[in-house]
Amino acid sequence: MASLEGRVALVTGGGRGIGEGIVKRLAEAGCDVAIVDVSMENAEKVAESVKAIGCKSAAIQADVTQWNQVQAMVDQTVSQLGKLDIAVNNAGVISIKPVTELTEADWDFVNNVNAKGVFLCCKAEQEPMKKQGWGRIINVASIAGKEGFPDLAHYCASKFAVVGFTFALAKELQQTGITVNAICPGIIGTQMWYGPNGLAEKWKNPGETMEESWKRHQKTLIPQGVAQTPEDMGDLAVYFATAPHVTAQAINVDGGVTSH
Ligand SMILES: NC(=O)c1ccc[n+]([C@@H]2O[C@H](COP(=O)([O-])OP(=O)(O)OC[C@H]3O[C@@H](n4cnc5c(N)ncnc54)[C@H](O)[C@@H]3O)[C@@H](O)[C@H]2O)c1
Repeated sequence: MASLEGRVALVTGGGRGIGEGIVKRLAEAGCDVAIVDVSMENAEKVAESVKAIGCKSAAIQADVTQWNQVQAMVDQTVSQLGKLDIAVNNAGVISIKPVTELTEADWDFVNNVNAKGVFLCCKAEQEPMKKQGWGRIINVASIAGKEGFPDLAHYCASKFAVVGFTFALAKELQQTGITVNAICPGIIGTQMWYGPNGLAEKWKNPGETMEESWKRHQKTLIPQGVAQTPEDMGDLAVYFATAPHVTAQAINVDGGVTSH
């Protein structure tokens, strides 16, 4: 595996799911990692797992929708781990409703965390990176940032926004030593799919259990027939972190669902 020894990363939404898989792969590549999450329920545990691998870590509480908390997240990463080289903006939320049932509050909640959160994080993270002339910004979008899916119009809007924002910021920063890319995950059995209000539950057929619905969706939606893992997203994060000439890209890790 490529080495990230001597690098410092932060991962938002790092306390569980895809964020936890990204943290794991970054640490395995030798990177010190700050675990940022709005909930501290699991962040300390994930920070301990980074230390067990032999890297430094810190658990930092921040809500990515709040500018002062986002600035504090960057400041705390720099003060606790020495600098900021790699920022993975992964925190995100979902809700599942057709547009006729969608409220303004549903729209605002999903778009505030997923789209505005990425904007605020990128705005703060680029400052220490510019000063050192090196940085990697990696935004977690979705295949829902490339395709439309029913009951997810507000979520798709937020993820298309992340992809467009990523492309534009990459061009803005192209002479600074900072690359900006997006990971577009496909279908992963985290809380978003396999949780109490997740997609497998909401998209159950009559009489189907959540487990049966989850298995059916993997078989019918994914050409390879199996879900991706959080660590698959971590592998792409490590690639983006080590690739100097890859910027303004949004790469799918989805078992073949999307081909653009
Ligand atoms: N699971 C999938 O199939 C899938 C597919 C495509 C894209 N994604 C994207 O991957 C990312 C991670 O999703 P996941 O499946 O791991 O979900 P998850 O719900 O398991 O984890 C999300 C994490 O983000 C944190 N978070 C939520 N709101 C926050 C806020 N305002 N500030 C800081 N942290 C916050 C949560 O506490 C949680 O730890 C999201 O951006 C999601 O949209 C997931």
